[in-house]
Amino acid sequence: MEMILIMGTSGLLQVIAAFLFWKLIRITGHRLPWVFIAASLCVFALWNGTQIYAVIFKKALLSWPNLPDEILELISSILILSGAVYATPLFMSIKRSREELKGSEEKLRSLTSQLLTAQEQERKRIAMELHDELGQALLVLKLQFSAIGDKLRKDQKSLAEGVQHSLAYLDCLLDNVRRLSWDLCPAVLEQAGLSQALRQLLNEFGGHHKFVQCSIDIDDIDDLIATGSQIGLYRVLQECLTNIGKHAHATKVAVAVKRQESGVSFRVEDNGSGFNMSQVLADKTASGGMGLAAMDERVRMLGGAMGITSEVGKGTRVSFSIPLSRAKSEA
Ligand SMILES: Nc1ncnc2c1ncn2[C@@H]1O[C@H](COP(=O)(O)OP(=O)(O)OP(=O)(O)O)[C@@H](O)[C@H]1O
Ligand SMILES: [Mg+2]
Repeated sequence: MEMILIMGTSGLLQVIAAFLFWKLIRITGHRLPWVFIAASLCVFALWNGTQIYAVIFKKALLSWPNLPDEILELISSILILSGAVYATPLFMSIKRSREELKGSEEKLRSLTSQLLTAQEQERKRIAMELHDELGQALLVLKLQFSAIGDKLRKDQKSLAEGVQHSLAYLDCLLDNVRRLSWDLCPAVLEQAGLSQALRQLLNEFGGHHKFVQCSIDIDDIDDLIATGSQIGLYRVLQECLTNIGKHAHATKVAVAVKRQESGVSFRVEDNGSGFNMSQVLADKTASGGMGLAAMDERVRMLGGAMGITSEVGKGTRVSFSIPLSRAKSEA
């Protein structure tokens, strides 16, 4: 009985191995050595099956050549060796592919980070041009219009009205230029520092979304974060809030920025619609949304790792930490 059990178990294992090897034939491109190994395993399984049959029913099912155990051992050793010989280049090519993939990923990351840095520099340049060139030109134009207005006689009422309209229009244009320049490169970062800029960002968000209850808990972290890193962090938080405004339909938003021994932790939570992360990642190419990917890359550039947890109907939480050593070393 014990012998039947052992033979049965080994037969079953051989059938499973033969099945798995057989399934791999197509993946290996019908390579002959693999076909040979798989076929041999099938023969072994069949052999074992007929042996069990013979032990149970005391008669042979098939008349196999009566091979001694030593020959069988030799055949299985050859099979194992040929499997190992064949598998070696296979695993080497897997290793090579992995290394190539890693190299491509690193290149892509470095390209993305260069792209984000260049984008930021370009934004700053355009913001300055807008502020210094266009803004100043509009200001000069406004002064000239005012001077013309002052010189008009009292009976030139329609002209005076035209000047007033133009002045109002110029004020509007100046506001737009200032807003555009601010959006491109928030000057508050340089003037008041990151903590203040983040508080202002949240206050503005609260101002634009009157029905959202905002809870803000931001420590002073300016001495911990290098100047060069501040714009990246500002952009990440900005994208979090833009996403909440655009997608979440939340009624509560909580932002916490905390000083910690090892660095600075950031957390942005909302109680909105939430989303299915794997679905969004799968839809990535079709939807073309780049916000989450850019956030992830910016955090990675600062030495952190972003974590997003989101559940449909329950809200979203974005959290990450920036290590202190990294933040200071860039100062
Ligand atoms: N706080 C959130 N609440 C609900 N859904 C969100 C939230 N943040 C992101 N999403 C979902 O994740 C998707 C991807 O966001 P992502 O910021 O990458 O792209 P986008 O906002 O659609 O476009 P882009 O940021 O490029 O303008 C969004 O389309 C949205 O479905
Ligand atoms: Mg977005």
